Amino acid sequence: MSRITVDGLTKRFGETVALDDVSFEIPQGEFVIVLGVSGSGKSTLLRCMNALETPTEGEIRIDETPVTSPRDDVAMIFQQHNIIGQMSAYSNALTGSLNRNTFIDSLFQRQDESDKLQALEALDTVGLLDQAQQSAQRMSGGQQQRVGIARALVQDPTILLADEPVASLDPGSSQQVMGYLRTAARDRDLSAVISLHQVNLARKFGERFIGLRDGQKVFDGYRDEFDMDVIDEIYGDIDTEGMFAPDEETDADAGGADAATAASGGSSSGVTR
Ligand SMILES: Nc1ncnc2c1ncn2[C@@H]1O[C@H](COP(=O)(O)OP(=O)(O)OP(=O)(O)O)[C@@H](O)[C@H]1O
Ligand SMILES: [Mg+2]
Repeated sequence: MSRITVDGLTKRFGETVALDDVSFEIPQGEFVIVLGVSGSGKSTLLRCMNALETPTEGEIRIDETPVTSPRDDVAMIFQQHNIIGQMSAYSNALTGSLNRNTFIDSLFQRQDESDKLQALEALDTVGLLDQAQQSAQRMSGGQQQRVGIARALVQDPTILLADEPVASLDPGSSQQVMGYLRTAARDRDLSAVISLHQVNLARKFGERFIGLRDGQKVFDGYRDEFDMDVIDEIYGDIDTEGMFAPDEETDADAGGADAATAASGGSSSGVTR
């Protein structure tokens, strides 16, 4: 059964058509990457999914209920890490329980034990348990983004949205962050929708791919169909040479890859499709 339904979604900003009659369904547990050139509508799609934008036409439903306001079971990770530099990794992660506690509770760390345990577990998921007390501002960009993921996990979502979560990171950190995202989604059976600019990274970690071009959905399919022709269709005239890594390096199971496997204690439960 579909968990998320995007149904005839159109979003206009004045004359600009950011999304043009986009429809798809996502079952629980699927890891979906959204691709498209700048301005193709990726952020608008993700923002509509979290009720940060209101559709002009059509709607988004979660469990068949129209999304009209942000939901506790939907967590969003942003490109800029949105974490509080002066606070420790642990305290930042703990603010993910804000939906269950007041902000004042959070500031004074008056959450209950289960929230605290969840924060530590989430830091463990992203490989930062040993850095729990480290002040966030002294962490690298990649580590800060992993704290952002931990915080999203503490919200205890069933749906994870991420808008270019690795845009500001170097290639190595990008892979690591994507690996942790993939592991977290797999271990917790989250539905994830993640926008990315890097095709190789998408191919390495993605399970399903949705391509947007000028606000229209021009591709929706799984790994075996996501080939060079599709990439040309999504990216048009842009030189796509070099975007396409050889297959043996992009196998999803190995792919969630090293960081992911390490993070989950060595188990590489395959994603089969
Ligand atoms: N708040 C807004 N007001 C006016 N136009 C907007 C607004 N948000 C987005 N747009 C326009 O909608 C279109 C889609 O923008 P969107 O940010 O969704 O693209 P994107 O695929 O996320 O791009 P990028 O890769 O650069 O982040 C663009 O033409 C953009 O200028
Ligand atoms: Mg964007």
